[in-house]
Amino acid sequence: MQNHYNLLYREEEREMLPLCAEADIGVIPWSPLARGYLARPHEAFDATTRGESDDYAREHPYFEGNGREINERVAELADENDASMAQIALAWLLHRDAVDAPIVGTTSIEHLEEAVAALDISLSASDQSWLEEPYEPVSVSGHN
Ligand SMILES: NC(=O)c1ccc[n+]([C@@H]2O[C@H](COP(=O)([O-])OP(=O)(O)OC[C@H]3O[C@@H](n4cnc5c(N)ncnc54)[C@H](OP(=O)(O)O)[C@@H]3O)[C@@H](O)[C@H]2O)c1
Repeated sequence: MQNHYNLLYREEEREMLPLCAEADIGVIPWSPLARGYLARPHEAFDATTRGESDDYAREHPYFEGNGREINERVAELADENDASMAQIALAWLLHRDAVDAPIVGTTSIEHLEEAVAALDISLSASDQSWLEEPYEPVSVSGHN
């Protein structure tokens, strides 16, 4: 299953991920970094060429609900772990039992190297819960 799943879009947890687990279907989510929004501070989303021009990112519900607070918690945990925000967001996804491998978007070799290094980041159960806690249901997105 190639689906839309990240810290800011977790509607897949309702039905699709349990179904995939039950039927032993592999899961490879796209936009694991919310198209870059989970890779840098909220106010810097449009600081890159893609962020500035990616209208599709703005059609997703990343800015709805408590998206900003989740973005800030990712930044805080990145500081504490001496990691980048992208690595914390990827590490959270890699800790999900249902996920086999995220389809990461990269625009530099450094992004790719950071993504690989995220495999070595271990998040405690309380860190994971803390990242998840502000999430509120958002509009269905990516599978209309
Ligand atoms: N099946 C579908 O419907 C579907 C839909 C969407 C995407 N996809 C596939 O999924 C792939 C990934 O999607 P995506 O590009 O949206 O993934 P993503 O991983 O959520 O976002 C990638 C963006 O995050 C930023 N980034 C990545 N690593 C970073 C790092 N280490 N530090 C700082 N910023 C970092 C970059 O933003 P900047 O470029 O702004 O720096 C990059 O363009 C696509 O290429 C596509 O093949 C499939």
